[in-house]
Amino acid sequence: MSPEVLHIIKMLAIILVYSAILRVARGFARGAGSLAPWVPTRSEDQKQISRLAWLGSGQTFVEIGCGSANVSRSIAQDNPTATVIGIEIARPLVRYVRRQLRRHPLANLSIIRANALDYDYSEVDVIYVYGMPKTVNRQLKNVLIPQMKSGAKFISYMFDIRDRPEGETVTYPSEQTDAQIHIYTKS
Ligand SMILES: C[S@@+](CC[C@H](N)C(=O)[O-])C[C@H]1O[C@@H](n2cnc3c(N)ncnc32)[C@H](O)[C@@H]1O
Repeated sequence: MSPEVLHIIKMLAIILVYSAILRVARGFARGAGSLAPWVPTRSEDQKQISRLAWLGSGQTFVEIGCGSANVSRSIAQDNPTATVIGIEIARPLVRYVRRQLRRHPLANLSIIRANALDYDYSEVDVIYVYGMPKTVNRQLKNVLIPQMKSGAKFISYMFDIRDRPEGETVTYPSEQTDAQIHIYTKS
């Protein structure tokens, strides 16, 4: 079986396990703050996102809800002097990514299992999220932007950040797909 087919089977198994866990946990999970279901950033857009992040030496990049961490891995590979952190709430995805990292280690990438809404973003240079329009514009905007330091960037894949406070947002069309990449820089 080709590695691509194996990868797809593994990811389907993770989705099945994850949705079963979600169903069982639904009663307990109300208010736990799921920001989005697992839908990965399109692989064709990863290189452009990595370029647009403009990470300098020693800077910190955090991916909120890193899923299978393909974006974080791509950023960590392209920016070996940066610190890359993926935060993910779903245990099966965190286990999957950690297994992958044991096989193909990246010294500058770490994965944290946590609710991303509880993280401290005050020292982060670039934040990346592929969330839902509602979560980007409610929880994330209200939690993240007040914490962000001046000059820090918040990259939102697909969904724009409306009514943003002081700062500017530039939208880049994807060079490969119909996606849009919105980058808010805090002033
Ligand atoms: C749309 S997927 C994006 C995955 C990945 N960032 C990408 O672009 O390929 C959203 C991810 O966020 C995770 N997630 C949802 N709510 C979260 C929370 N409160 N804290 C951390 N991760 C969360 C989901 O489990 C899912 O993996």
